[in-house]
Amino acid sequence: MLTGTLVALRAFERDDMKLLHEWQNDEELMRLARSFPDHTISMEAVLARYDKAVKGESFADRDYIIQEKSSGKPIGWGGISIHQWTRRATAGDIGLAIAEKAYRAKGLGTEVVGLLLREAFEQLNLHRVGWWTYAENEGSLALARKMGFREEGRVRDSVFFDNRYHDSVVLGLLKDDYERSKPERSR
Ligand SMILES: CC(C)(COP(=O)(O)OP(=O)(O)OC[C@H]1O[C@@H](n2cnc3c(N)ncnc32)[C@H](O)[C@@H]1OP(=O)(O)O)[C@@H](O)C(=O)NCCC(=O)NCCS
Repeated sequence: MLTGTLVALRAFERDDMKLLHEWQNDEELMRLARSFPDHTISMEAVLARYDKAVKGESFADRDYIIQEKSSGKPIGWGGISIHQWTRRATAGDIGLAIAEKAYRAKGLGTEVVGLLLREAFEQLNLHRVGWWTYAENEGSLALARKMGFREEGRVRDSVFFDNRYHDSVVLGLLKDDYERSKPERSR
């Protein structure tokens, strides 16, 4: 369990699949979370996708349910995906979705990213963490920048939805940047 003040991140359980199925069929949420508003996924496919996570068999994909700490209510999901193509565990991407809308813009995302970064840098000893989103996802970009990520590039016209192409933005944070900005974040 990765425990903060307002939220805790815990492993996926089989009982969470119903919620993930609901969330991952939500058009507005999947537009923001995956640049994919028409994302549809069956329960069978959700079970297949997260089978390894539920069994604790995935090294590279660290998936977490975000829960409100005080109530234990699941409010979203997130995780760290360690790059495998590098053949070294030096870099990964993080992502998150506060799926329950009522819980957004209350500082929970900030805390979730803080917990994911602590895990990525201080436990997994990654050197670099990346963050991908599409160019109009203002909430995602605001949160990444707030946490010290720097924009490193734009992949032009890389995703298509809502009848047009959108740029993807990749931001990155190095362990050194993270260590340097730690005192700032804890103020
Ligand atoms: C993006 C998301 C994770 C942010 O989490 P959150 O709990 O709402 O964010 P916080 O309350 O911690 O706010 C973080 C900062 O981002 C800013 N922010 C949040 N949502 C914003 C929005 N829609 N537009 C502009 N800025 C926004 C806040 O003002 C805050 O900055 P501040 O502390 O300087 O005021 C959340 O809105 C979400 O899950 N959205 C849907 C899925 C998604 O986009 N996931 C990211 C995919 S890469």
